[in-house]
Amino acid sequence: MTWLITGGAGYIGAHVVRVMAEAGERVVVLDDLSAGVPARLPEGVPLVAGSTLDRALLDRAIAEHGVTGVVHLAARKQVGESVEQPLRYYRENVHGLTVLLEAVVAAGIGSFVFSSSAAVYGTPDVDLVTEDLPCAPINPYGETKLAGEWLVRATGAAHGISTACLRYFNVAGAACPELADTGVYNIVPMMFERITDGLPPRIFGDDYPTPDGTCVRDYIHVADLAEAHLAVARRLAARDGAGDLTVNIGTGHGVSVREMADLIAEVTGRAEPAPEVEPRRAGDPARVVGSVELIAKELDWSARYGVREMVESAWNGWCLRHPEARRG
Ligand SMILES: NC(=O)c1ccc[n+]([C@@H]2O[C@H](COP(=O)([O-])OP(=O)(O)OC[C@H]3O[C@@H](n4cnc5c(N)ncnc54)[C@H](O)[C@@H]3O)[C@@H](O)[C@H]2O)c1
Repeated sequence: MTWLITGGAGYIGAHVVRVMAEAGERVVVLDDLSAGVPARLPEGVPLVAGSTLDRALLDRAIAEHGVTGVVHLAARKQVGESVEQPLRYYRENVHGLTVLLEAVVAAGIGSFVFSSSAAVYGTPDVDLVTEDLPCAPINPYGETKLAGEWLVRATGAAHGISTACLRYFNVAGAACPELADTGVYNIVPMMFERITDGLPPRIFGDDYPTPDGTCVRDYIHVADLAEAHLAVARRLAARDGAGDLTVNIGTGHGVSVREMADLIAEVTGRAEPAPEVEPRRAGDPARVVGSVELIAKELDWSARYGVREMVESAWNGWCLRHPEARRG
């Protein structure tokens, strides 16, 4: 197999590239470098710089590298931005996927892995989110992920392609400091940024119906997530056409925002200033924790790392880019 990894120069993609390459899979990366960093790629992994919207480039890359499977991570991923720029999100995430799938069908590629998101569930009112729960995304980003799943499954069924839609929960951490997330869109880097600036980390709402009143989420270490991609890719390659696997990728454990703030204070050694409680943000569900039974059953896969390892590895990555953060 040769795997085309779109978005492979991004935060999660670079981890997937590394794990798959180290496991002996042949990989080639396609990334438009809008958020990707070429230096994240291991030596010897070819990079095709360009967009999933460029059909001619896709056809060339697939033919030149003899691509037989695709792991599609390339997408825009900021919820707030998707509310302000829905057309851009539908264009990049849905139209980009359509063009890519057309190229996949034309080339007779038999395996396709799609990065979906727990955002497809919207605001689930259950203790553990199972894959059969009706999807009801509440923002354009989540909508593009759900539409993407529909596209992937329908195309797989029509053209005999093995597909997988991976619904990631909250991704955090880094396999090494150089691969850490450079964006400040998730709770962990957002709290690091406040701490570095000498400001109190922010907690949005402490009156939710949860044990400590703050929102509860399921955090997954990016290194675990990357390993899951390898397991899924190998399963698809072995299955030889047809069939879809839509699975949650999380830990099945909930961590509250307050617990996360306490852990971050401990790991960074910055208990002061104490977190500040601000009003709830619109659209934040009280609790989103994934059931991970299906992926355990289907792939015999489960996460190895806990939230402490996520925070510690993310902090090391943060300090590499913000050396001033280490000061007491
Ligand atoms: N980070 C998370 O917590 C999270 C959670 C759920 C799902 N996801 C999904 O995982 C995937 C990867 O996310 P990430 O956190 O690594 O984001 P990222 O922004 O770091 O990576 C995305 C990569 O795709 C590239 N890209 C974007 N649009 C492209 C296009 N049209 N053509 C080619 N390249 C393009 C970017 O340059 C970037 O390198 C995305 O599909 C995202 O929606 C992420």
